[in-house]
Amino acid sequence: MKENSVTIPRWFDRHLHVRDGDMLRIVLPCTLKQRATGAIIMPNLADPISTIEKAKAYRDRITALLDGSDFVPCMTLYLTDHTDPEEVVRGFEEGVWRAVKLYMANQKGQGGTTGSAHGVKDLLGRYPVFEAMEKHKIPLLGHFEAVEEDVDEFDREIVSVDRDLKPILKSFPGLPVVFEHLTDGRAADFVAEVDHNIHATVTAHHLMINRNAMFWGGMNPGHYCKPVPKRETHRAKVRQYVTSGNRRFGAGTDSAPHDESVKSRCYGCAAGIFTALSAVELYTMVFDEDNAFEHLGPFLSENFLALYGMRVSSETMTIERQGWHLPESVSSQLIGTPTVKVFKGGADLPWKLAG
Ligand code: DOR
Ligand code: ZN
Repeated sequence: MKENSVTIPRWFDRHLHVRDGDMLRIVLPCTLKQRATGAIIMPNLADPISTIEKAKAYRDRITALLDGSDFVPCMTLYLTDHTDPEEVVRGFEEGVWRAVKLYMANQKGQGGTTGSAHGVKDLLGRYPVFEAMEKHKIPLLGHFEAVEEDVDEFDREIVSVDRDLKPILKSFPGLPVVFEHLTDGRAADFVAEVDHNIHATVTAHHLMINRNAMFWGGMNPGHYCKPVPKRETHRAKVRQYVTSGNRRFGAGTDSAPHDESVKSRCYGCAAGIFTALSAVELYTMVFDEDNAFEHLGPFLSENFLALYGMRVSSETMTIERQGWHLPESVSSQLIGTPTVKVFKGGADLPWKLAG
């Protein structure tokens, strides 16, 4: 018999973009309505969150919009070639940030994704920072994708595993690492098997679509994100680890809002998929399809939360088998403010988060 509801502890989004200004005002309430206890807030703003002062000010702007919610915005530091190890440690010890985000850029200053042009060009040059992080057990959240022009788009992740990640793990055996938005089955095998304190976040969209989705009905900007969705065998492999209950994998939506004007333009479409409005329901669909409800709670609400200084919530949330119509987009009433297209917007979803 199929269950009609599932009750799990309130969840935590281990990877979230909320942006700033009008966009922040539009998208933050979506995650609050999804009953998250908090989220890892990504630092890739136009002016990256690369200092203690910026992180504090950004946290204040988020907190000002919480409207009485107990949501915990867990800040991250944007690592650059100039980040000072002492500041990394100080910000962590003062409770300003809980982790450091690694984006990489190539020698031309081209980053692999939105807001990554200020990312690290000289990874070896960052080893003194990793050393300090290892000593203080500060988690490294890595966007592990090679950024060189001659690396095939669909191999960027596995090239980075071999070239960047493995040497880091070898040099810093005590460094806690989270492999962000994992998409490649070979990377999943590595994370599952390696003897290291390493975990991986997985998005709802990467569990649901393969690379064909970028070409449905012609080029489809709504399915373009970084890392790009991979071939079906990779999607299936990653999903197998997730829904079989492997504790090294946890939910991180990478919900990444972009205004329609930059998202749907035919040249230079921005990378990012917005799922914050229905993330819990999307993940629930995946576990339902795989008959794996016993693993939904750990994946959404438990796995490696301690790494971020979070506890498993003592409060619960219930997701019910109940159809509802997912809006096409979110926006505010104000003219000139962003409009964000929703992943699977316009579809009827079979699960609904109660209350
Ligand atoms: O698709 C993506 N969008 N991937 C990222 O890594 C960043 C994100 C964004 O900030 O838009
Ligand atoms: Zn991201």
